[in-house]
Amino acid sequence: MINIAIVGATGLVGRTFLKVLEEKNFENCTYTLFASKKSAGVNIKFFNQDYTVNELKDNSFDNNKFDYVLFSAGGDVSKHFAPIAARNGCIVIDNSSAFRMNKDVPLVVPEVNPEKISNDSLIIANPNCSTIQAVVALKPLFDNYGIKRIIYSTYQAVSGAGQKGIEDFYNTQKGLNANKFPYKIYNNCIPQIDVFLENDYTKEEIKMIEETKKILNDDTLNITATCVRVPVLNSHSESINVELKTEFNIDDVKKLLAKSESIALLDDTKRQIYPLATFATDKDDVFIGRVRRDFSVKNGLNLWVVADNIRKGAASNAVQILEKLLEKNKGTE
Ligand SMILES: NC(=O)c1ccc[n+]([C@@H]2O[C@H](COP(=O)([O-])OP(=O)(O)OC[C@H]3O[C@@H](n4cnc5c(N)ncnc54)[C@H](OP(=O)(O)O)[C@@H]3O)[C@@H](O)[C@H]2O)c1
Repeated sequence: MINIAIVGATGLVGRTFLKVLEEKNFENCTYTLFASKKSAGVNIKFFNQDYTVNELKDNSFDNNKFDYVLFSAGGDVSKHFAPIAARNGCIVIDNSSAFRMNKDVPLVVPEVNPEKISNDSLIIANPNCSTIQAVVALKPLFDNYGIKRIIYSTYQAVSGAGQKGIEDFYNTQKGLNANKFPYKIYNNCIPQIDVFLENDYTKEEIKMIEETKKILNDDTLNITATCVRVPVLNSHSESINVELKTEFNIDDVKKLLAKSESIALLDDTKRQIYPLATFATDKDDVFIGRVRRDFSVKNGLNLWVVADNIRKGAASNAVQILEKLLEKNKGTE
């Protein structure tokens, strides 16, 4: 029997973990749910059973109780509790940014760098939601043509900021003040996600740049990013402009993307078909459309990439990592 703990089980990502585990029939496991003191005692229905949420404490992982722990409770919680869990024999799959750029921590998107998934790791990091969908789209291009430069422009949903992001959307729609975002998100596009750094980029933009380099294992990539919060409930949309290293035929690029793992090509401009946030929501694929040559530069390409930030951008990606770890374990039994 595999023993799994879920930290942040009451949150947007945590509840989606439960949904994805149910969908994938992860039945032969025991589950223990954790959240903050505020949620201790709350009941959550999961696999048709009532699970009571426990308050996460320093002794929650004592006695090597768990094999795997899925964390989605923010960076501070991960920073404090993930090392405790790891010391108690668990493999941590962490959704926060706490360990992503730590050189000993694999940063994994299973379609892109599955070779980094190992039961020898203490902590495995899930990348930022906006990075995950971008690298799924870029990996086939990277492998087949090489990439010189990437320009990311994102249009990120309010759910990317958790339950409080969604509350801000509805509150500001009613005319109330913003609480989570720096300005009213309703009727606005806010060109700030996370805090500003010394170089005038936001932390989100630097995460996309650095995480892309780490996952594609190429420090020479030239990348820039502008990340924008938009008044959309769920699913992030991204315009990705890429300069490839070699020449390409646009039809070959479309065929390549269409046959790549976890990518669904929705690209028929004659019928006005392209990916939309409402269509991507509740699905695990990364949807790509508006694939076209950028005539302003040699070997330039434009893509429009949309995915559910809570599913592929967080919970589904983490559960895919867990599936691969379990497969590897079976192989060594
Ligand atoms: N939303 C996304 O699109 C997305 C995508 C990728 C990664 N992530 C990452 O996933 C994490 C969770 O995001 P979310 O969107 O699910 O946020 P959320 O809806 O605000 O949920 C936060 C969760 O963390 C729990 N929590 C807060 N403080 C805690 C503590 N001291 N001890 C234990 N649990 C605590 C909350 O429990 P209570 O209910 O008891 O407060 C809740 O279960 C964050 O690190 C975020 O960066 C989110």
